[in-house]
Parts: sequence; C-alpha cells; structure tokens
Amino acid sequence: MRQVNVAVVGATGAVGREMTRTVEQRKFPVSKLYLVASERSRGKRLPFSGEEMEVQVLDEFSFKGIDIVLSSPGASTSREYVPRAVKEGAVVVDNTSAFRMDAEVPLVVPEANAHAIARHKGIIANPNCSTIQMIVALKPLHDEARIKRIVVSTYQAASGAGAKASAELREQTADALAGKPIIVEALPDRIAFNVFPHIDVFLENGYTKEEMKMVDETRKILEDERIAVTATCVRVPVDIGHSEAINIETERKLTPGRARELLAAAPGIAVLDDLEKNEYPLPINAAGRDEVFVGRIREDESIANGLNLWVVADNLRKGAALNAVQIAEHLVR
Ligand code: A2P
Repeated sequence: MRQVNVAVVGATGAVGREMTRTVEQRKFPVSKLYLVASERSRGKRLPFSGEEMEVQVLDEFSFKGIDIVLSSPGASTSREYVPRAVKEGAVVVDNTSAFRMDAEVPLVVPEANAHAIARHKGIIANPNCSTIQMIVALKPLHDEARIKRIVVSTYQAASGAGAKASAELREQTADALAGKPIIVEALPDRIAFNVFPHIDVFLENGYTKEEMKMVDETRKILEDERIAVTATCVRVPVDIGHSEAINIETERKLTPGRARELLAAAPGIAVLDDLEKNEYPLPINAAGRDEVFVGRIREDESIANGLNLWVVADNLRKGAALNAVQIAEHLVR
C-alpha cells in the first residue's frame, strides 16, 4: 500500500479519537497524520504512535497535500468544510449524515458494497452506526434468501451521541447513587437508570431521524429499494456497544441453522449463539472489538419465512471509525 497523508477532522471527539486509534492499530500506511478540531481545542495535544500531536483548528487548516480525510465533526460542520477539502484535493470519508443520501456520494459498508467506492467524486459517506452493524449481519442472509422486510429495535449506547453524552451517563449515574439532583444536558432525557425512544430529532411522520436513517441507508447500501424497513431507536444506559433486535421476513425459506452457517462464514461477523452456555452477544464484550456479533438466531414462528436475530457491535469502531478506516484502506489499495 502507498503511504498517504491523513487528516482526522473532529479528532477530539468520541469517534475522532477512535479513528486515530484505529489508524494506529491497523498500521494504516500514514505518511503524516494531522489532528483537526474546532477553535475550542486550539493548543490541545493528543497521542498518536507514541507522540503527542498538536490539534489544528479546522478554519485555518489547509487540505492541500492531504490525501484522505477521516471526518466526524457533526453534520453541519461537514456540510460547510467538506466541499473545500475536496476542492483542495483530498478524498473525504465522512461519518456524518451530511452527504449520505446524496445520489453522487457512495454510502459504503465494505462487507456489503465495497464496489461503490470506485465511483466517488471526492466524498464517501460512512453510514449511521446502527445501520452499519445491521447491514453486516443481514447482507449474507439477503444474498441467500432476499429480505423483504426488516423490523428492528435498537438499544443504543450513550457514546453514540458523542463524548459529552458518554460523560453524562457516568455523571448522572454517580449523582443518582449519591442522591444528588440529575443534570440533563447532552442527551434529550435522563439516561442513568432509564431508557428513552428518542435519538436525533423527531420528524413529521412521527419517526426520529435516526429511525429513518436506518430505513433509507439500508436501501441505498443494499441497492434494493423494495426492502421494507421499520425501526424504533432507543437510548440505553450503556457506554459503548449498540444492540439490535432484528426481525426479518425473507422471500425464500432460511432456517436458523443455514443462517448460522452463512453468518459464521461471512467477513466481519462472529456468531455467539450457544444457549446452553448462556452465550449471546453483549455490549460489554463487544466494546473494543472489531466484529459484529450475532446470536439468538431463531425462527419467527408467527410467519412462514421469518427469523429473529440479536446483533451487537462497538458503535465507535465498526459503527464508525473502523468502517471509515476500512473504506480508506480500499482507497489506498
Ligand atoms: P471540539 O472538541 O474542538 O469541539 P463528539 O461527537 O464526541 O461530540 O465530537 C465532535 C467533534 O467534532 C469534536 O472533535 C469537535 O471538536 C469537532 N467539532 C465540532 N464542531 C466543530 C467545528 N465547527 N469545527 C471543527 N470541529 C468541530
């Protein structure tokens, strides 16, 4: 692989830090790495490859000479700076929702549609964290039996809403145990000892934007507009690791045994499904891991061709940073 210059934009955030770690851990062929964030982070230093690197301010940062940008500074910031970065010659792998549904922009989960990377015009979008892990798990089943309908309920970790939300889970938990008042700032509701069905903003159809991302992004990545998808997205008091209860209806019959076989052979998946040993995927075990874990694979006995699955992955890694770095690896190959 050739050596490339890389900038991580949003480097001080939950996903940005994971992007830098992932670049280091996977020995991504970096010639020079730049860490970029907002004015608030001016002068801050972050570790990379045993060194402390100074964070640069986005408004003053030139993308000339940068080959690849790994980007996660929030959608409004991406919308503003990404066109400039592309004009200055960089290819941007953007983790925000800013460009995901743009027809010109490939939306990629490498295990499902790596072929789409080749048609990029400077921007490649990284899908929503909940969508990525669902796609990794469902693609092998879709190839075999064609999925007609997906009903998914998510149990999403606080870190999916950023570093501040992650801190808020800890602070609220400590405050609740100490009998102190609970302060709600980073998330729309109290998260300690609670769950709430509200991720991203509510839309006119009564769904949240997060729920509609799972609908629209799934169809785009699987290149199949016929798939019916309905989602309920829920925040739970977990720090890292999104879990999903997924129900699928397929065109052709798929037994749980065959599904297990297909999933065990598919890239990026670990099947954990031994009920006698109490073995099923858990967010505490998925945190820090690259795989998408699938378990509780069982027949939906209420319909002819249905299956239920429980799918867990590290939302910061495969759900964001790892998927972005895997796209970047395809770019330099
Ligand atoms: P900063 O730390 O300087 O605010 P998270 O998703 O964990 O909240 O992180 C968001 C990331 O995006 C942080 O690195 C944050 O930098 C960065 N960011 C937010 N707004 C901007 C902006 N206007 N310009 C550059 N970086 C931004």
